[in-house]
Amino acid sequence: SMLRTLARRTSTAGTCRGFASESAPDRKVAILGAAGGIGQPLSLLMKLNPLVSRLALYDIAGTPGVAADVSHINTRSEILGYAGEEQLGNALEGADVVIIPAGVPRKPGMTRDDLFNINAGIVKSLCTAIAKYCPHALVNVISNPVNSTVPIASEVFKKAGTYDEKRLFGVTTLDVVRAKTFYAGKAKVNVADVIVPVVGGHAGVTILPLFSQATPSANLSSEEIEALTKRTQDGGTEVVEAKAGKGSATLSMAYAGAIFADACLKGLNGVPDVVECSFVQSTVTDLPFFASKVRLGKNGVEEVLGLGALSDYEKEGLEALKPELKSSIEKGIKFAHA
Ligand code: NAD
Ligand code: LMR
Repeated sequence: SMLRTLARRTSTAGTCRGFASESAPDRKVAILGAAGGIGQPLSLLMKLNPLVSRLALYDIAGTPGVAADVSHINTRSEILGYAGEEQLGNALEGADVVIIPAGVPRKPGMTRDDLFNINAGIVKSLCTAIAKYCPHALVNVISNPVNSTVPIASEVFKKAGTYDEKRLFGVTTLDVVRAKTFYAGKAKVNVADVIVPVVGGHAGVTILPLFSQATPSANLSSEEIEALTKRTQDGGTEVVEAKAGKGSATLSMAYAGAIFADACLKGLNGVPDVVECSFVQSTVTDLPFFASKVRLGKNGVEEVLGLGALSDYEKEGLEALKPELKSSIEKGIKFAHA
């Protein structure tokens, strides 16, 4: 529906411009890591989103070129490019939503946790700046390992006295995007109609798609469900191996990140019934953070929704993921305190 809205706006651009900015409130979105593999296509997709009035593109280098390029697109938002740490404050000031795809990606043979040593420090320093310059922004963390970087962000915000659990999100939308695509292929249903929740976390077995709740429903065998589950859990690795050393998912991630940021903006704007899966502070299980369906509203998380009925296979998967997810969360919290 976002793309439909975009097409409509684009086709009538000249006459619609004033209307668009008057009807949708001003919203500033900042992308940190905007010159990267995800950052560039994500900048493009956010430039196409009519809910954005200002788009700040920040990276340690390379953003002037990306910003100049994207700024020529004749859509609503004003593009602001920022390069280097001394410009980070200006990039963040007034932001309603901050999206963080900054950090190193995997190479074949690596786990997401192997990125911890570099990315934990990047997320910590970016979140320190968010606490200072836009403490009320909704923060969308893409940088891996998400199971640890989100707890790091929460501890940084707590320390700064700005933490609001309703405003911090680990972006797990790509798991949902993959689950929908793979399910539609196997179930032979229209992919545009598919809904599948994916819960847990964002690494290997912590990714738990709930195909028993998938709609339109299909009579898949337990072997087929198991294969779909494994493919969803290994989707990131599938791309890492295909790219053979040149990084991980960027284009599908940019799409997923744009969908999630759009949902955050719709929630802020008061659109009812905006629900997406996300890795958030949670009481759905005994773990302090957990991905599940979340209702988005004017303050961010309006409601963390429960798991619903699980199949026996999903119940086993849920128990099996808890030790790894727990230790990844604890690793992040420990790092933030050190
Ligand atoms: P990339 O190397 O292509 O781009 C990363 C960008 O971050 C670079 O432009 C780099 O200059 C920038 N950067 C580094 N340190 C920074 C800092 N301190 N401040 C601002 N920018 C900084 O990598 P990529 O392919 O875009 O992936 C980025 C991250 O996203 C990785 O950690 C990857 O694992 C993760 N990722 C997450 C998901 C998900 O589903 N959540 C999906 C795909 C990738
Ligand atoms: C993904 O799921 O594609 C990302 O988390 C990147 C990766 O390392 O797999």
